Amino acid sequence: MARAAAPLLPFFFLLLSSTSPAAAQKNLLGRTPQMGWNSWNHFGCKIDEVIIRKIADAMVDTGLAKLGYEYINLDDCWASHDRDSQGNLAANGTAFPSGMRALADYVHGKGLKLGLYGDAGLRTCSRLQPGSLGYEDQDARTLAAWGIDYLKYDNCNNQNISPLTRYNRMSEALMNSGRDVFLSLCEWGVDDPATWAGSFANSWRTTEDIKNTWESMTDNADKNDKWAPYAGPGGWNDPDMLEVGNGGMTIEEYRSHFSIWALVKAPLILGCDISSMSAETKEIITNQNVIAVNQDKLGVQGRKVQQDGDLEVWAGRLSRGRVALVLWNRGPAEASITASWSNIGLNQSAVVDAHDLWTDEVTSSMQGNLTNKMDSHACKMYVLTPK
Ligand SMILES: *[C@@H]1O[C@H](CO)[C@@H](O)[C@H](O)[C@H]1NC(C)=O
Ligand SMILES: *[C@@H]1O[C@H](CO)[C@@H](O)[C@H](O)[C@H]1NC(C)=O
Ligand SMILES: *[C@@H]1O[C@H](CO)[C@@H](O)[C@H](O)[C@H]1NC(C)=O
Repeated sequence: MARAAAPLLPFFFLLLSSTSPAAAQKNLLGRTPQMGWNSWNHFGCKIDEVIIRKIADAMVDTGLAKLGYEYINLDDCWASHDRDSQGNLAANGTAFPSGMRALADYVHGKGLKLGLYGDAGLRTCSRLQPGSLGYEDQDARTLAAWGIDYLKYDNCNNQNISPLTRYNRMSEALMNSGRDVFLSLCEWGVDDPATWAGSFANSWRTTEDIKNTWESMTDNADKNDKWAPYAGPGGWNDPDMLEVGNGGMTIEEYRSHFSIWALVKAPLILGCDISSMSAETKEIITNQNVIAVNQDKLGVQGRKVQQDGDLEVWAGRLSRGRVALVLWNRGPAEASITASWSNIGLNQSAVVDAHDLWTDEVTSSMQGNLTNKMDSHACKMYVLTPK
């Protein structure tokens, strides 16, 4: 009764919305893995609009935005403890006094996009804000009204309802919201989301939360690996956000972290304070060659293809017949690794130019294999271009 008359919908919209069932619909986002920033790994629950604006400023001022990092994503703890009198989600008025619409306008004004965090359960993982279970349509309308571009959708307090049901409901709600919203599932890989989320989500977590340690990073890389066949344009495996710059690993470990995430077409969601990062951190996350591997249009997730104890070779196909290659020394001492063409998808007789993406040097006319030596926990990353 109180609702305003619906505006007349354009004919093509009616056609689109009536030809296929909602469950089979999906947005056209995420043709390459998403790139951006998220508040959790560095700030945890301590976020407010001053911090988020500063991050958006830094994204542009440091040149990161020009390299493709576009999403500014708020994680848990942005919302008020309770819904408002109409049952809507509301921003925490102390931390976000200007409100989410104003923050979205600010971020959009910088040419960037704004993401929020929600939960497919009764309350979020912090329990400080309401979950969206049972409120999917209403919350999707709220996000759309604020101009939100991305939803990270978590899995806490989920009443043991099938994740497929809970996540599909929010996907449909977003599709019906009238706004294109990137849907990033955070189901922790519990029910093998790679096997079912591709038809309605743009990325899905395949592992538990990353911690800022070498062990956690390598573990997530390994657990994510087996789902490679399910990734592709529009839907990506997500071994969780980047820790580069947060101080728990060495520079070479962070370089390996970024190289492997790029090779396996993981979302490149930065997790450090980009408004005060070190020169070393900036050098890693702004490497255009490595980013280009991640954003390659073919969208093939690279895999671990050769292993000899701690000495590993990861590789994946790129567009135009090229191959991306990482030699990764996960052992305790300096070591030499050889990748042979037969293991990385090249014809044994192929002659290639090898571009070292971290030194930016090109070695021409290599044949059969490639060998290099590297320090403990360091990697070498290449793009091989057949002649
Ligand atoms: C807003 O956040 C602050 C800091 O976490 C918290 O103390 C306060 O209770 C929150 N307000 C509401 C209405 O949830
Ligand atoms: C490898 O290259 C040779 C010579 O160009 C060709 O005859 C052969 O079919 C190729 N093998 C594969 C597996 O592509
Ligand atoms: C590497 O390739 C070269 C040239 O094809 C070959 O002579 C050599 O035996 C190979 N080495 C290894 C370790 O496979």
